[in-house]
Amino acid sequence: MSWVTIDKDLCTGCGICVQRCLRCFTDRDGEILSHADVETCNICGHCVSLCPTGAITHSLMDMGNFMDVNEDIRLDPDEFLQLVRRRRSHRSYKDRKIPRKDLDKLLEMCRYIPTGSNLQTVEIKVVTNPEKIRAISDACVDYFMETIRAVETQAADFASQGKELPEDLVRMKEFANRYKMMGLAREMGLDPILHKASALMVFHSAPSPSTPKDDCVIAAQTAVLGAMTMGLGTCYIGLLLFAAAASPAVKAELDLPAGNKPHSALVLGYPKLKFMRTIDRKPQKVQWVE
Ligand SMILES: Cc1cc2nc3c(=O)[nH]c(=O)nc-3n(C[C@H](O)[C@H](O)[C@H](O)COP(=O)(O)O)c2cc1C
Repeated sequence: MSWVTIDKDLCTGCGICVQRCLRCFTDRDGEILSHADVETCNICGHCVSLCPTGAITHSLMDMGNFMDVNEDIRLDPDEFLQLVRRRRSHRSYKDRKIPRKDLDKLLEMCRYIPTGSNLQTVEIKVVTNPEKIRAISDACVDYFMETIRAVETQAADFASQGKELPEDLVRMKEFANRYKMMGLAREMGLDPILHKASALMVFHSAPSPSTPKDDCVIAAQTAVLGAMTMGLGTCYIGLLLFAAAASPAVKAELDLPAGNKPHSALVLGYPKLKFMRTIDRKPQKVQWVE
């Protein structure tokens, strides 16, 4: 039994569904047949979306959630470029809660991103509890301070023996020098990891044979741009992923479903600082093949 039903009264035999998906549809002398099943169909919904007469129904999808495409919405490319150029990493936030409806809307935006093989394995943990945000941040700072101490001890041992530092230790030493101030920042009442943001979003996934990291990053970047439309600032927090990969304490604080891996993390809040100018970047390296 096909997952897809074609209403014979509505089908005009135009063959657009066949053109789009030879795996699930066949044109037999003008009669369109569907054979969508676990072997052929990745539940992308393109057949339903493309059908000019609405003749196609997919039994595994919520047909009520296929909206007519609004042709009137036209995003100006220059305005979009301005939006992209205006995005900044914000590390200073007002002490103001983000309304639940806005967070819900961001989650809804993430729901419609593309995912590898349409597997849709992205899960999102949203933390708005300030004590929990603080606890996650503290666990990260503890981990980094321990790591920095260990690196410095190792480097000192090498130096005392007159030995040259191995390459990975040189890299770790550079990292240690860069992040040494973290402990001090915390003592001063700052939050050097999650920046006292109003919300933390962790994009994670169960292991997947496709592209779980890419999918999580696409979801995160969708939330970043969506957040701008709500007056929210964001900042990616790679340090949290770094710490979570190595520290059981950070992993425990994140408390993701067993087996899931965090692939992207963002903090969000109402920015305290207003950027007045967009920022220069290196010219884009491009290889044209024309
Ligand atoms: C994947 C990724 C991880 C990042 N991790 C951190 C982080 O852990 N902490 C932080 O304060 N900023 C972090 N950033 C922000 C970058 O430092 C920032 O994007 C960069 O300096 C450029 O500034 P802009 O975002 O304002 O253009 C991260 C950015 C990306 C894309």
